[in-house]
Amino acid sequence: MSSSPAAKFKNPRARYNFQGRTCSISGVGSYVPARILTNAEIEKKVDTSDEWITSRTGIKERHIAADDEFTSDLATHAARKAMQMASVTPEQIDLIITATITPDMPFPSTSCLVQQKLGARKAAAFDVEAACSGFIFGLEIAQQFIMSRTYDTVLVIGAEKLSSIVDWEDRNTCVLFGDGAGAAILQNRPNAHGLLTAVMGSDGEKSGLLFMPGGGSRCPATANSVQARMHFLRMEGKETFKSAVQAMQTAAEEALRRCEIDITKIKCVVPHQANRRIIDAVGERLGARPDQLFVNVDKYGNTSAASVAIALDEAVSSGRVQRGDLILLVVFGAGLTWGAAVIEW
Ligand SMILES: CC(C)(COP(=O)(O)OP(=O)(O)OC[C@H]1O[C@@H](n2cnc3c(N)ncnc32)[C@H](O)[C@@H]1OP(=O)(O)O)[C@@H](O)C(=O)NCCC(=O)NCCS
Repeated sequence: MSSSPAAKFKNPRARYNFQGRTCSISGVGSYVPARILTNAEIEKKVDTSDEWITSRTGIKERHIAADDEFTSDLATHAARKAMQMASVTPEQIDLIITATITPDMPFPSTSCLVQQKLGARKAAAFDVEAACSGFIFGLEIAQQFIMSRTYDTVLVIGAEKLSSIVDWEDRNTCVLFGDGAGAAILQNRPNAHGLLTAVMGSDGEKSGLLFMPGGGSRCPATANSVQARMHFLRMEGKETFKSAVQAMQTAAEEALRRCEIDITKIKCVVPHQANRRIIDAVGERLGARPDQLFVNVDKYGNTSAASVAIALDEAVSSGRVQRGDLILLVVFGAGLTWGAAVIEW
């Protein structure tokens, strides 16, 4: 007679039934710094024009953080708004995940600094580094913790002070980026649907398309590294563009396929806001109507991990999305990384 061997160690999760558990987004919020930098002002810094920037990217202006305003400050402002919408107190937060490539410092994590600013003393806190895809990666990580009953309330933030790593002498890149933060509170809510699925992907073979060479273990800061401008981001624009369109299409189609829906069921497509031409190309490939696409790249430029989080908040607060509508988030970033998520709002 066979019987299963007695468990050697206690597994606290073994008694749980995951069925019926859902991961709902109960609050969103965003924040951008007050200072606006227009294309006309950038014309005075580098050899460019409003006409070139607008026709190639759709960007008209971006927000720039003050010298004494850091990624953790932007993140905290956005988090407070999301907490207010969700009616969540700092003590209720179990976990803080901040997606960023511009942490206040290499360590400790920006999430720990946000935890301190919020007074969320109970929360565990760590950062995710998946560049512009980080917010969707953060949502998926949060969902895993909630579905496994490890945590009930998770704060996910995308926050960037990209102005601190942009080379303001390089016209190829400085026109593209801006600062800001977006946040979401994820919770288990009975009978709510929330995050239906999230797709994540990466291709380290293409890590050289978009990167910052200096400041890590490969090239620590030295007088030479500063002089060689290695502490600023570098990008192969054309190749990045092509990879972005392809990867975002593939990720979005996979997310729709998993939910067994087609694009016509989506009320609002919220893409990573890097370039208006990338957004339009992805929308066209997915068969989305122009009025399904949410676009705010003209106001903020590319805010990396914050981009889709700010856009989601604006889609909700502007009334573009109502309770019960389906939202498709789709992102792409350095790594390379990409992702897509379907949310029942
Ligand atoms: C960067 C980007 C806007 C350039 O647009 P593009 O249509 O590929 O530009 P082109 O290659 O046709 O034109 C480049 C020319 O414009 C010039 N140029 C670049 N930046 C310029 C600027 N700000 N103002 C004026 N001219 C500029 C280049 O020097 C080059 O000149 P050359 O042909 O004499 O060498 C585009 O490639 C892009 O958006 N790539 C993806 C970037 C991105 O999204 N990154 C983040 C991903 S998360």
